[in-house]
Amino acid sequence: MRRGEHLYAGKAKSVYTTDDPDHLILHFRNDTSAFDGEKTAQLERKGMVNNKFNAFIMQKLEAGGVKTHFERVLSDDESVVKCLDMIPVECVVRNVAAGSICKRLGVHEGIDLDPPTFEFFLKDDARHDPMINEYHIRAFGWASQEEIDEMIAATFRVNELLTRLFADGEMILVDFKLEFGRFHGEILLGDEFTPDGCRIWDAHTREKLDKDRFRRDLGGVVEAYEEVAHRLGVSLG
Ligand code: TMP
Ligand code: ASP
Repeated sequence: MRRGEHLYAGKAKSVYTTDDPDHLILHFRNDTSAFDGEKTAQLERKGMVNNKFNAFIMQKLEAGGVKTHFERVLSDDESVVKCLDMIPVECVVRNVAAGSICKRLGVHEGIDLDPPTFEFFLKDDARHDPMINEYHIRAFGWASQEEIDEMIAATFRVNELLTRLFADGEMILVDFKLEFGRFHGEILLGDEFTPDGCRIWDAHTREKLDKDRFRRDLGGVVEAYEEVAHRLGVSLG
């Protein structure tokens, strides 16, 4: 399968058509960004690491009963996925307080959240991804109640599966963001699952092993992603 037309460039991935209208190629670039695209950089090996990391996680999720768009790895930094009609909302689950919830609610980073919280954000960088709720999603026609219920259930299922997977590698899955889309009448997990879109801490030292290293200028960004991959058993080749 070969890249066709360049459809769209996100902040860290580009999307291409293929010869099959049901499939797309995702190209994981070395670009990284934070604060809705305000801060950017190029990080060597990041595209390859994230492509392989994402493939590993998507396969684990499929094995755990979560339907995803993932088809197969095509090259070091490209994968074939199903072409979804994306729902423009981000689903965030938090097991531990960090990031925007700390600013919003004035709570300290590191507090355990029991039960884990669920939040929706609108995918809109220009408006800094505002927090929304189910009523906004229905009122503006972004998704139906049935689709909302499916996204919430799938996101909690992902949390169950991945909390365990990361714990086995002596890591804490602090929080993460998922995006879903429609494919022939079904809701599938789309986009990616990589350390760009989640927070992962070492279980003992609580060292940050995710994109917060870039956001906070801690250094060793790709090295941390590689450490997480290594602990999970992701083969980076
Ligand atoms: P937040 O603390 O900034 O709200 O983010 C929660 C988690 O979701 C964190 O792991 C980062 C991820 N996330 C994204 O990757 N992209 C986004 O646009 C948002 C809102 C969150
Ligand atoms: N909003 C996310 C962040 O702060 C994604 C991004 O801006 O790249 O990292």
